[in-house]
Amino acid sequence: MAKEGRSRGVSRQNFMKASGIVVLAVVLLALPRSSWAQGAYRLEVPLGLDADQMVIPKDNPLTAAKVELGKILFFDPRLSGDDTVACASCHSPQFGFSNGLATAIGVEGQRGGRSSPVAINRVFSTLQFWDGRAASVEDQALGPIQASIEMGHDLEAAVAKLKGIPGYSELFGKAFGTDVTSDGIAKAIASFERTLLSGNSRFDRYKAGHISALTPEARRGWQIFMKKANCATCHAGFNFTDEDFHNIGVGMDKPEPDLGRFDVTKVDTDRGAFKTPTLRDVALSAPYMHDGSRKSLVEVIDYYDRGGTKNTWLDKGMKPLGLTGQEKQDLLSFLKALTGAPIVVQVPRLPE
Ligand code: HEC
Ligand code: HEC
Repeated sequence: MAKEGRSRGVSRQNFMKASGIVVLAVVLLALPRSSWAQGAYRLEVPLGLDADQMVIPKDNPLTAAKVELGKILFFDPRLSGDDTVACASCHSPQFGFSNGLATAIGVEGQRGGRSSPVAINRVFSTLQFWDGRAASVEDQALGPIQASIEMGHDLEAAVAKLKGIPGYSELFGKAFGTDVTSDGIAKAIASFERTLLSGNSRFDRYKAGHISALTPEARRGWQIFMKKANCATCHAGFNFTDEDFHNIGVGMDKPEPDLGRFDVTKVDTDRGAFKTPTLRDVALSAPYMHDGSRKSLVEVIDYYDRGGTKNTWLDKGMKPLGLTGQEKQDLLSFLKALTGAPIVVQVPRLPE
């Protein structure tokens, strides 16, 4: 019985995969020319993502040489002070480019106060970090290298270290026509990050007309997500985020809560507000929330069902939802259907 069920599942999956590819090809052909510009790097935008919403700054167009260099830098622990921590240590392909830990662990095993967000679909976003303190992925990239609890490196020392590796001088030459510079490090890493796209999920295939791509449970879950549970007011649009900041109460019951966006803007109403994260690949990136305090999606759904943690700045969109057990189950099935086609990144050989 079980065996039969499984083989049927596989053939249905293959069918979905095949039909997904056809739709993907059509979408790719229909892409505006601008997203193919700088001919050198061909960014393939998976089904379900809106190529028109990509933010690629004029002074850092995507090129194959930059993306390749950025990938190498992303995996190279020599960017850290003691050669032990790479960007990929905390943003690993295995965990939806997060790391499976509540709060990140950096050089010398130090723990930060926030969890590693998924580093996917960043091309659709300008403000980076839970509190939006970096205005682009270029700005963002140099932060962790220097953060004492992440990679703990002095930027000038990092540049000098890479200059001493002949392979890097060559790669920077190809990408920028210069030797290693901090500006080049930021631009290359940002370019690589912009290629990490999650789409072509079961939900995207369903929306593209393949009704059987979603179970009846997940289809009901989508309706609950949109209406009764009110999730879509903040997790809006194709990337499931309004790119805005909200206080949903997480951590507000601590004696000294992380005030998030307030620390950047000093605007009173921003107290305890954090950036709405994308929900794509969310099933891969437990634990959840800026402090990693919710271990599973079940805990997240229970948290919202209770209406969050009461506090003065709680977003008006947060109220007890009164979901039934079945409705919670449906919502969970929907969230699991947002896992995209695997992002295949070969771990690069590091230059010597
Ligand atoms: C020690 C773990 C650690 C390392 C190493 C690390 N990060 Fe992060 N990363 C984090 C944490 C934690 C956050 C969230 C911090 C915050 O919001 O204040 C973050 C945030 C980000 C974000 C913002 C995502 C978003 O949704 O706003 C990006 C992009 C990112 N990191 C990329 C990188 C890159 C590139 C490197 C290497 C240069 C790197 N990270 C190294 C832990 C790490
Ligand atoms: C008022 C806006 C708002 C509403 C409504 C909302 N969210 Fe969120 N969501 C957020 C914000 C902001 C965060 C990050 C909060 C934090 O870490 O402090 C978040 C975090 C999450 C996370 C954790 C993601 C991660 O990577 O850690 C999940 C899962 C999630 N929301 C699902 C839902 C679901 C399901 C609903 C409906 C039941 C919902 N959200 C309703 C704004 C909202």
